[in-house]
Amino acid sequence: MGLFQFLSCASLALFASNVGAVSWTADPVNPSSIPLAVRTPYLSAWLPQGAGAALGGTWPQFWTGTTLGWAGYVRVDGITYTFLGAPDVPNLSPALATQKSMTYTATQSTFVMSAGPIDLTVNFLSPVEPNDLVKQSTPFSYMAISAVSNDGNTHAVTLYSDISAEWASGDLSQAVNWTSTTSGDVWTHQVMPEDQQIYGEYDDHTQYGAAYYSTQSSTGATYQTGEDTVVRAQFINNGVLANTEDTNFRAVSDDWPVFAFAHDLGTVGTTATAEVLYTVGHVRDPAIQYIVAGDNFQGRSIYMWTQYSTVADAISDFVGSYSTALSDANTFDAKVKSDATAISDNYYAIVALSVRQAFGATELTTSKASDGSWNTTDILMFLKEISSDGNVNTVDVIMPAWPVLLYTNPTLGKYLLLGLFEYQATGMYPNQWAAHDLGASYPNATGHNDGNDEKMPLEECGNMLIMTLSYTQKANDQSLISSYTQLLEQWTGYLVQEALIPANQISTDDFAGSLANQTNLAIKGTVGIQAMSVIEGMLGNTAQQQNYSSIATSYAPQILQFATANGHLELNYNNATSWGLSYNLYADKLLGTNVFNQSVYEMQTAWYKTVVNQYGVPLDTRHTYTKSDWQMWTAAFMTDDSVRDSFIDSVYAFIGDGENNMPFSDWYDTLTGVSDGFRARPVVGGHLALLAL
Ligand SMILES: *[C@@H]1O[C@H](CO)[C@@H](O)[C@H](O)[C@H]1NC(C)=O
Ligand SMILES: *[C@@H]1O[C@H](CO)[C@@H](O)[C@H](O)[C@H]1NC(C)=O
Ligand SMILES: *[C@@H]1O[C@H](CO)[C@@H](O)[C@H](O)[C@H]1NC(C)=O
Ligand SMILES: *[C@@H]1O[C@H](CO)[C@@H](O)[C@H](O)[C@H]1NC(C)=O
Ligand SMILES: *[C@@H]1O[C@H](CO)[C@@H](O)[C@H](O)[C@H]1NC(C)=O
Ligand SMILES: *[C@@H]1O[C@H](CO)[C@@H](O)[C@H](O)[C@H]1NC(C)=O
Ligand SMILES: *[C@@H]1O[C@H](CO)[C@@H](O)[C@H](O)[C@H]1NC(C)=O
Repeated sequence: MGLFQFLSCASLALFASNVGAVSWTADPVNPSSIPLAVRTPYLSAWLPQGAGAALGGTWPQFWTGTTLGWAGYVRVDGITYTFLGAPDVPNLSPALATQKSMTYTATQSTFVMSAGPIDLTVNFLSPVEPNDLVKQSTPFSYMAISAVSNDGNTHAVTLYSDISAEWASGDLSQAVNWTSTTSGDVWTHQVMPEDQQIYGEYDDHTQYGAAYYSTQSSTGATYQTGEDTVVRAQFINNGVLANTEDTNFRAVSDDWPVFAFAHDLGTVGTTATAEVLYTVGHVRDPAIQYIVAGDNFQGRSIYMWTQYSTVADAISDFVGSYSTALSDANTFDAKVKSDATAISDNYYAIVALSVRQAFGATELTTSKASDGSWNTTDILMFLKEISSDGNVNTVDVIMPAWPVLLYTNPTLGKYLLLGLFEYQATGMYPNQWAAHDLGASYPNATGHNDGNDEKMPLEECGNMLIMTLSYTQKANDQSLISSYTQLLEQWTGYLVQEALIPANQISTDDFAGSLANQTNLAIKGTVGIQAMSVIEGMLGNTAQQQNYSSIATSYAPQILQFATANGHLELNYNNATSWGLSYNLYADKLLGTNVFNQSVYEMQTAWYKTVVNQYGVPLDTRHTYTKSDWQMWTAAFMTDDSVRDSFIDSVYAFIGDGENNMPFSDWYDTLTGVSDGFRARPVVGGHLALLAL
């Protein structure tokens, strides 16, 4: 015990000294990993940080941590500097540009890089367009670069950037082929696996479709494809590319083919140049395999196809609408900033880092009618659980993420739930409780007709009822509750039987193990029953409204009786020393169901105040780890702002502690601030819990 205490004190001091240790200005904070191009489960490029890693000198990574070759050079008066990635060319070693600053907002990450007498501003924009289904579903991201003199003189400046075939396959031995094409003033390199494995994955990368790297020829462009060292040396030595294509198609790592563009910015003075634009994306079609009535599978396409007939059209529009995308992004970012800073600056740092990650796990799809035309009213959103699992539309992952949907556009929540309803309404799912997910492995939303999905019966019945009422209230739309009343009643019946005395089972926190009589599950189930009472009232079924309401209001005090001891709710009934984050109370506030008395919120607030570790309140008494999403849900119903802020400040301390190098991890230790493993999960949408109330 003594040794352990000594170690943890020493480590705490070490971690504290890392905060703010980076040599550049970081606004709002230097996080564990910086989003660069994060739009879909397969377009997800990050700059890992640990204690700090500059844009120049570090390879970007896919969310899993594997390298994504993305290189950038700037040549100033004949001297080349690396501003992006860690390219290595034998006998040529350009200096690294010096990173002056890194700023992130909800949709953008911006770096200022000094290359001798020139400063580059490199802006990575991953649009979040919750009210425009075409734009939200277009799987591309922007990198825009401008240059300005920092010494008062003028300089000759050329720019270079390439991507590797790692954007097209997770399997480095996979043979790929490529083409370079022109459409108006837009130039595009396309690279794809020669063996197109429809719906296949390799280490979480998609194995079909193609990656695209594009730019505008109007900005004095040249291009080249070929071996990394050859193409990069061509630029370092000449400041211009050869306009040639390597047609010796080969594996990703076989003499590493890269796909490059260079631009001549001419003479650059003290007025910043216009931005040179690059776009990177990944398109596959069909995108999702979806189970429909009769146990048939439907191939579904990304919603953008309702607008474009070719990928080239989509890219041209994406490139051409950059200024609109940027102004939309600035408006969205400003709103997020203003709403979140109204709570605190630290809260804003958490929220701004969460938005791209949450949307980056999703894809919006549509289908074709029998005459071959797009059925634009058939809209389903799909979500990959990411990292903990590859499940499709996991209900207890949508649930924690739900606040980001409520905040941005609740109708997206309907598009996420609809596939789960449609599938279970076919009758092919055999269990009486709500399914855990729509399919074991993204992008196969092929259901679980054997009923062997991960069993979280109370969790998922409660979640479906809570999210369905929440959507109905926020969108003022009764389409879900009127179409799927029977399923909702079936799940409510299960809760009526099972919620008061929860059997031994897992909750969404499955990694913590199973347990009988989990107070938090009883709370969720009871709020779920009350939610159905409200739904029945909306549908005019007053007898059922009364019935469910009287059941929920009789369960609540019994649960408190079973579960209260020593001034807190217990983790499991009759276990006075146990406690946990009773985050499911958030649903009672969100829905306005008020099944649980205000005194419970006051009791929990007073209790959590006494058990905060450096990096937050543990998830429960079984471990010292916690979940950032559940901490933010809990913060949202604290009755004392100082306790609310201690939750926020502890998550803020975690993201900036310099100890982690992965996309925002929602699972970490409250004593060390070190991640327990999950990364890049959409559940960080739950960090907007305070904005959704
Ligand atoms: C690249 O491979 C795909 C899939 O095998 C094939 O359809 C396409 O024609 C190939 N393209 C080139 C340029 O060889
Ligand atoms: C999805 O299903 C197809 C068969 O329809 C299979 O080839 C593919 O490997 C599956 N994808 C994943 C990620 O399991
Ligand atoms: C379009 O999709 C909707 C929603 O799934 C469906 O009800 C309708 O039948 C479809 N229309 C056609 C023409 O397929
Ligand atoms: C109330 O609902 C429960 C669960 O669905 C059902 O078993 C019971 O019969 C209902 N009672 C009345 C009076 O409708
Ligand atoms: C669950 O709690 C109830 C109510 O206190 C109790 O009767 C029952 O024995 C408990 N079950 C277990 C497995 O502890
Ligand atoms: C409900 O909470 C209020 C204060 O928040 C308290 O005065 C009252 O006694 C509580 N009622 C019950 C039934 O616990
Ligand atoms: C009571 O809770 C503690 C801490 O969560 C746990 O270790 C213990 O096993 C629990 N005991 C029972 C009987 O559930």
